[in-house]
Amino acid sequence: MKNALYSDNRVKLGVMAFNCSHGSTVTNVDEAWAMTWEDNMALARMADGAGLEALLPVGRWKGYGGQSNFNHRTFETLTWAAAVAAVTSYSTIFATVHAPVIHPVAAAKMAATIDHVSAGRFALNLVAGWYQDEFDMFGISLAPHDERYEYAAEWLTLVKRLWAEEAEFDFEGTYFQGKGLWSQPKPLQSPRPPIMNAGSSETGHAFSARHADMNFAMLRQKDEDSDRGQIAHLKAMAADLGRASQCWIHVYVVCRETEQEARDYLRRYVVEQGDDAAVANMIRIFGAQSATLSDDVLEAFKFHFKAGFGGYPLVGTPEQIVEGILRLSDMGVDGMLISWVDYLSECRQWIEQVLPLMEQAGLRQPFSAAGQVGGDVART
Ligand SMILES: Cc1cc2nc3c(=O)[nH]c(=O)nc-3n(C[C@H](O)[C@H](O)[C@H](O)COP(=O)(O)O)c2cc1C
Repeated sequence: MKNALYSDNRVKLGVMAFNCSHGSTVTNVDEAWAMTWEDNMALARMADGAGLEALLPVGRWKGYGGQSNFNHRTFETLTWAAAVAAVTSYSTIFATVHAPVIHPVAAAKMAATIDHVSAGRFALNLVAGWYQDEFDMFGISLAPHDERYEYAAEWLTLVKRLWAEEAEFDFEGTYFQGKGLWSQPKPLQSPRPPIMNAGSSETGHAFSARHADMNFAMLRQKDEDSDRGQIAHLKAMAADLGRASQCWIHVYVVCRETEQEARDYLRRYVVEQGDDAAVANMIRIFGAQSATLSDDVLEAFKFHFKAGFGGYPLVGTPEQIVEGILRLSDMGVDGMLISWVDYLSECRQWIEQVLPLMEQAGLRQPFSAAGQVGGDVART
């Protein structure tokens, strides 16, 4: 049985960031996501029951200030994933792990535990880290940009060995040393759970191509051709190494009966009530710490950061949204992780109004839960 991330649907779907207050929308509107466990459970069950392939938490330890203090309340992602796994049955459950914060021996075992709780539905989103303020709480100074990915590569090598090898082994790396390393039980998924990475710089992309099964890409959104080129480049890097790589992106969705209503609401939560102070902090730190967007692009990206943490916009009627998804699919996007302002009501609307149109457009098959759970895909 295949992990849902490898379903036959042309465009796979998931919901992201609902383990964080305000989700991905940097706004002061009253209906922004308050983030309670009850709402997390309700949303996870709704998405799972509709056959959405992925549920992905953001790894965040500290808010960004401003009036909203965007993302200041967050559930830790490994414990969140274990609990969400226990109340769902189909979707793949991600945990987003900061390599510098969790030791690989602990992470390998936590991941295996969630893989058992979920009956083989766990996936790891490994991130190298960029938000120095949150690392200050751990007394960790982020390494220079590219070295973060060397560290992450060694981290992942160790985790993969702990998942795979039956016998004890010693490890003498640059960053990790250990004797008699060993981990049982192994994950249920064979050969291992899928791995995603959200590196967006050239170094981050190279890391994804070599070590991960999917890149969670930040499209630069200059124009469709350049985004298409970015995705083709990502996949070509993996193909050159004899590996297959999926491209997933984050989309922020505003779906309304008319295009005007959708545009009006977008304007209300981003322009009229967006949290400019929080987004300024975010952009200042992201710009300084990541090697992804140049300063002028970052400035232009302010709108997308407020609307959906730098995601790609899908705004309009259900029909227009499906047209947008067809274009993204044509550009090479394999999966989309969605954020909304008001997750519960807008995810319900997506399931009722957008999913059927995606099926009509040949982007997805109608969902039937029977016999679709579990992961057994050959990966290297
Ligand atoms: C869609 C998406 C989701 C991300 N989620 C997280 C996250 O949960 N936690 C985190 O610290 N960084 C997250 N990042 C940041 C990336 O891991 C990465 O550090 C950032 O894109 C900068 O790329 P670079 O490290 O290659 O410079 C995310 C990035 C993207 C594009």
